[in-house]
Formats: sequence, C-alpha cells, structure tokens
Amino acid sequence: MTWFTTMIDLSFKYREAITYLKKESPFTPEIAVILGSGLGNFADSTKKIKSILTSEIPGYPSASVDGHKGLIHFANIENKKILIFQGRIHFYEGFNLSDCVLPVLLTKKLGCNKIIFTNAAGGINKNLSPGDLMLVESFNSINIKKELTELIGISSVETKNNFLNCPSSRMNEIFKESSKEKGIKLHSGCYWYTKGPTYETPAEIEMIHRFGGDAAGMSTVHEAVFASNLSMEVVIVSCITNMASGISKQKLSHSEVTETARKSAEKFALLLKTAILRM
Ligand code: HPA
Repeated sequence: MTWFTTMIDLSFKYREAITYLKKESPFTPEIAVILGSGLGNFADSTKKIKSILTSEIPGYPSASVDGHKGLIHFANIENKKILIFQGRIHFYEGFNLSDCVLPVLLTKKLGCNKIIFTNAAGGINKNLSPGDLMLVESFNSINIKKELTELIGISSVETKNNFLNCPSSRMNEIFKESSKEKGIKLHSGCYWYTKGPTYETPAEIEMIHRFGGDAAGMSTVHEAVFASNLSMEVVIVSCITNMASGISKQKLSHSEVTETARKSAEKFALLLKTAILRM
C-alpha cells in the first residue's frame, strides 16, 4: 500500500530502523511526544515500559546537541500508551531534512497518528517572558519551503487538505482547557522557523517581529509539516527559554536555554500529561 509519497523513498532509506523499532515496540502508541532542548526530563515523570538508545537503531542519525539525549521511550501515562523521543535531529547540525523527520516517520510506521511537538524558542512578543509556555497556533515556514518541497514533492489534492488544520484546532483546544484546569499560563502565538545554526541577529528578530512572529526557533516546523502530510494530528508547544536577540540586552547562550527549560519542566510536564489524558 502506498500511503504517502516523498521525493526520496524514506520507507526504503530507513527500512532497517523501521523494522528494528517495530520488532522492539511493546505496544502500538496512541500519542507521540517529541521533546525539545532541556525538556528531556519529561520522560522521567512517566511510567517507562521500555527505553531504546537511538545509537542502537540501525541507520539512526546521532544527535550532538547538549540537552538532546538520543533515547526513545515507550511509556504509560495512566492508561495512555505514549512514545517519547528524547533528543532531536536538527537541520542546523548539518543533517538532511529527511533525517530530521525520521522520528515522525517512525511514529507513523508504528501506527500512531497524534503527535505533540515541544521546543525551546526565543520570545519576540513583549508579552512573553523567559519560562513562559506558548501554544503555537500558527507558524512561519518561509525559511524552509524549498527543502520541504524537495522532501515532500508537490502535494496531492488530498494531502493538501491535511494542512488546513495544522496545528490541529482540536488538540489546541485540549491544551487550552488543560492549562485552565491546572492554572498554568499558556500564551498563543506564531512560531517563526529560523535555520540557525547561530541565534538570530537583532535585525533579523526585528524583521520577524514586524512580520508577525511571536517567537523564533530552529526546529519543529518541517517535522510538523511532514506529520501533517502523513495525515497526523499535530500540536506544538514552545517553552520561551530567553528573549530573542535584541529584545533583551542579555547575550544569548545555549546554557541559558537549557537552564530556563529545566526550570519550566515541572509545569510543562503537568500540562502535557493533563492534555494527553484528554486526547
Ligand atoms: N532563537 C532561535 N532558537 C532558539 C532561541 C532563540 O532565541 N531560543 C531557543 N531556541
């Protein structure tokens, strides 16, 4: 059965990884969670059933960014079966886009159709502060359109329709209700993808601000578009780990990003768990 097409045959390219994970999988996951920089500890607040080092998966790219561990967990949150990717494959590390979307491909191949993306982002909107959480109700992918088209090709009429509800309004509502229930402040905004590998300049952030971006980050957008193309339900939550370049006078650093994410980890985990139980 051909259930999606890409310009390169990803099912073939990653056939060994797919076979390995299917063999090792203790259950069919209902919801996948991709953890962003410094948010890796979420896995520790779940009941882990089985953990796999990505280095043991044949053909799995090895991530090198501090704060990204390279583990896949099969876990339970009460009766929900969850797949957690602890460690991301970033485009700015020099990987192909097809490598970056591998966790999404594996999720789909395991039969899971709901995916929660989390990430660290720099706040641009002045209503945001470091440590805040932002529901990504819209994103800007203009910086990566060419690569995405090379990966996915020209969408068919059917797959085009999948993008009309990305991120999923149903999943967004669940996150909003969950944040209210737990008294966790959840902003909404537009995430602007930047390619990195360095943080943006103040001039770049000023441009993004004028074009309506509320936060900037170097991940997720291509993964979300790829997931949508596979008819998956997508939701994205950003942890604002710093104010973006020029918005604050402070020099940016990766350690500030991971440190702030760690400080917000507890409320982030509570929000994720509450939302997962409602899905
Ligand atoms: N810019 C881009 N990506 C980021 C930032 C930022 O300021 N903070 C965390 N990830």
